[in-house]
Amino acid sequence: MCGIIGYLGYRKAMPILLEGLFAQEYRGYDSAGVAVLEDGTLRVEHSVGKIALLEQKIGDNIGEGVIGIGHTRWATHGRPTEDNCHPHTDCHGNIAVVHNGIIENYLELREWLQNQGHTFTSQTDTEVLPHLLEELYQTDLYQAMSDAVARLRGAYACVAVSSFDPRRLVAARKDSPLVIGVGEGEYFLASDIAALIRYTRNVIILENGDIAVVDDHGIKITNQGQPVQRKMVYVDWDKEAAEKAGFPHFMLKEIHEQPAVMAKTMRGRISDDLEQVLLPEMDAAFSDEFLKGVNKLVIVACGTSYHAGLVAKQSIERLLRLPVEVDIASEYRYRKPLVDEHALVVVVSQSGETADTLAALRESQYNGAKVIAICNVMDSSIAREADCVLYTWAGVEIAVASTKAYVTQLMLLYMLTFYLGQRLQILSGDYLHHLLQELDELPDKIAAQLPTIEETTREWAEYIKDYDDAFFIGRGLDHSVALEGALKLKEISYIHAEAYAAGELKHGTIALIEPGIPVIALATQQFLLEKSISNIVELKARDAHIFGIAFEQTQSMAKVTDGCIYLPQTDDLLAPIITVVPLQLLAYYAADYRGCEIDQPRNLAKSVTVE
Ligand code: G6P
Repeated sequence: MCGIIGYLGYRKAMPILLEGLFAQEYRGYDSAGVAVLEDGTLRVEHSVGKIALLEQKIGDNIGEGVIGIGHTRWATHGRPTEDNCHPHTDCHGNIAVVHNGIIENYLELREWLQNQGHTFTSQTDTEVLPHLLEELYQTDLYQAMSDAVARLRGAYACVAVSSFDPRRLVAARKDSPLVIGVGEGEYFLASDIAALIRYTRNVIILENGDIAVVDDHGIKITNQGQPVQRKMVYVDWDKEAAEKAGFPHFMLKEIHEQPAVMAKTMRGRISDDLEQVLLPEMDAAFSDEFLKGVNKLVIVACGTSYHAGLVAKQSIERLLRLPVEVDIASEYRYRKPLVDEHALVVVVSQSGETADTLAALRESQYNGAKVIAICNVMDSSIAREADCVLYTWAGVEIAVASTKAYVTQLMLLYMLTFYLGQRLQILSGDYLHHLLQELDELPDKIAAQLPTIEETTREWAEYIKDYDDAFFIGRGLDHSVALEGALKLKEISYIHAEAYAAGELKHGTIALIEPGIPVIALATQQFLLEKSISNIVELKARDAHIFGIAFEQTQSMAKVTDGCIYLPQTDDLLAPIITVVPLQLLAYYAADYRGCEIDQPRNLAKSVTVE
């Protein structure tokens, strides 16, 4: 992961590059750098740490250059030091390159280049690129790039600028996103559209194997040496979407956006009479005959998206009585998964670029399975390679800790479940209508309750902030959501948190319960309520401090907890969509009390495009 920006036009490049980097800071932020052509010479500036430090270092000295490249890094090969910052240059400082991804054969290339007399100054895989371009350059940077990428193995999105070819940027893409923004007499290159929508909404998405040349004559794209046309798309995201809209952090803004994006995700996908789920993408991709032959579903994802998959397993098995396996993508891809043409694989990914999830998709297809992708980022690699893609429409999610993407993933997984139930004639009309009505009402219910939930979770967070450990418990669907609640708390507040199936506690974990320790107990599943309450009582007897989360009809929770949030009633099956909201807010406020960097937690990145 890492963010790339490039500019070629008539305005001073430096401020545009810095802004582009700030807009992509969530992709990586342990060092940053820029290279700008000034009077025919490359000026390169690097800084370790956040982009603000690079901006400070440059200060007022923004120069006059109108062409340049920039990069924000999340270290993979080589520690976050100034030497390892991008852009990297060749031996003579004539060529500068920024790169995302991993060049797998870099050691081999490095040795070869060293034998040709090149001197390396960093430990990165990227540095082989400028040296390779230097070695191969004859008269044309495009030709050098074509010859260079032919020697690379691995994933890359890269942009090069050179004093040899001073009005030109050359870019290449394979398995790592790269887009070109087309303005009036100016061009922008970026790993993420969010970095350039301030300047233009006309965007070209490069495809695997593309090499693009941007100069005063326009854009030329080739693939395997042949000219290709890539269509320009108009991006209608509003500028506000990339800003905090008055909230102190993107995460809080994104939590508050949840009712709106949930409604957006349902729009056009549920018939007006709430009788049917409409997923034309599914109609087009799969025949009745194929769906009837499916003997299991396999859901593969990472992080929060994996937790959405765990919820889906329970709801699909409960409703459709179809076996569902859920796997972590990094495990699945290497365990020779048992999938074939009768398995339907669902990969879930907010970014659509997570390397392990992409590899899992490919492994599944290689084994003959069809793959549905649930993605948030349009035209992302996973979206493009899947047999069918369903978009979550959560909009740009900037906070590293995923919130609104998760609830929209849940919405879509529920809709997919109902769709399959309807198409396979498993779900009866009345029951389907009831579920769709409940789903349809959820955004308003959550919006109405949000202020109360927020106030209570803020109080709870004040208690939790002083503890080193917290436990989350629940049964069934509540357990799946508890896992997500614990992940949120760990990610952003750095409080150690564990989620347990409530019935499993007494097989070991209960030994860790000490007086006062915070336990968040989820009890929304009516058919498991008595059992859940017994588990809570067991913890209470050991003086744990219990924060309960239940539906408004479950007032019995008041007797066994030290405080309880009562959520608006919905069908038990849909509880996760609503239960996760207090857990997100609890993590947010605990992190806030502890003074953590909420939107950019240490050691984490938004999109993990390397193994
Ligand atoms: C990273 C992010 C998580 C995310 C996970 C999977 O670890 O920090 O928030 O859940 O990647 O990302 P994806 O884009 O595939 O959903």
